[in-house]
Amino acid sequence: MADVYGWFEGIAFPLAYFNLEVLREARDTFVVKDEDIIMVTYPKSGTHWLIEIICLIHSKGDPKWIQSVPTWQRSPWIETTHGYELLKDKEGPHIFTSHLPIQLFPKSFFNSKAKVIYGIRNPRDVLVSAYFFLRKMNITKKPETLQEHMEWFLQGSVIYGSWFEHVRGWLSMRDRENVLVVSYEDLTKDPRSTVEKICQFLGKKLKPEEIDLVLKYSSYQFMKENKMSNFSTIPDEYLDKGFSFQRKGVAGDWKNHFTVAQAEAFDEIYQKKMAGFPPKLFPWE
Ligand code: A3P
Repeated sequence: MADVYGWFEGIAFPLAYFNLEVLREARDTFVVKDEDIIMVTYPKSGTHWLIEIICLIHSKGDPKWIQSVPTWQRSPWIETTHGYELLKDKEGPHIFTSHLPIQLFPKSFFNSKAKVIYGIRNPRDVLVSAYFFLRKMNITKKPETLQEHMEWFLQGSVIYGSWFEHVRGWLSMRDRENVLVVSYEDLTKDPRSTVEKICQFLGKKLKPEEIDLVLKYSSYQFMKENKMSNFSTIPDEYLDKGFSFQRKGVAGDWKNHFTVAQAEAFDEIYQKKMAGFPPKLFPWE
C-alpha cells in the first residue's frame, strides 16, 4: 500500500489521523474504566448511527448535544491521535469509539466491566459502503474499481485489516455480560426493539416517548441533515466536498453493485473464513 499508511502489528493506518506511538500507548497504557461505554465496529458497519443512538439514550432523546458537538468529540476514536488526546487525561466515565481489532484494543478493557457494543453488518454492504467512501477520501489509497477494492478487502489489505479477523476476534467475546452484539440489519428492520435492547444492556430506563425521540433524531434523514453528524465540516483536504456520509443507509445495497461472478467469489471466501460460526449470529445469512 502507498506511503500514506503507517503499519502497526501488520495493519495499515492512514498517517493523517494516526501515530504509531499513540496506537501503542492506547493498547498498552490507556485505563478503561468500569463505567465506560464503548462502540466497537469494523469501519462502515453503522458506527456513526450507533454513536448517535448512544448519545441520544444518554440525553434521553434531547437533541441538544448531537446538534452542537461533532460525532468525533462526543465519542472520540481512542486510536486516532486526536481522539486519544481528548480521552487520555479526561476524567471518566467515557463514551468512546474504536475500529480496532481485538488484539490492538486497550488491554485494560479485558479486566474491566466497561460495556462494549459491537456493531456488525453484512460484509458485502461494508465493502460497497467503504468503496464509495474511499473514492472520496484524500488520505487513503483510492480503489479504481469495485473489483480492485474487493480484492483488497478479501485479502485484508485495507485500513484496520481483515473484516473476517475483526469479526471472528470480537465475536469470541459475545457471551460476556459486558458485550452486546448489534447488527445494522436489525437496526434497519426493527429500530425500536434494537434501541430498547441497547437501553437494557446499558441499564438505562427511558420512557416510550423518550425512545420515540431517540428514534427520530437518529433516523437516516435527521442524521443526513445534522452538520454535527454528516461530515460536512470535514476539510476537503481529507474528504471531497459534497460527499454525504449518510450515503444510502439501507441493508442489501451490495446486490446493486456485485456482478454474479463477484457474488460467487465473495461467498466462497466468506464460507471458508467464517466456518464454525452459527449462521444465526448473522442476520444476512
Ligand atoms: P452506506 O454507505 O451503505 O449508505 P460507519 O458509520 O461505520 O462509517 O457506517 C456508514 C454507513 O452507515 C453508511 O452506509 C451510512 O449511510 C450508514 N448510516 C449512517 N447513519 C445511518 C442512519 N441513521 N440510518 C441508516 N444508515 C445509516
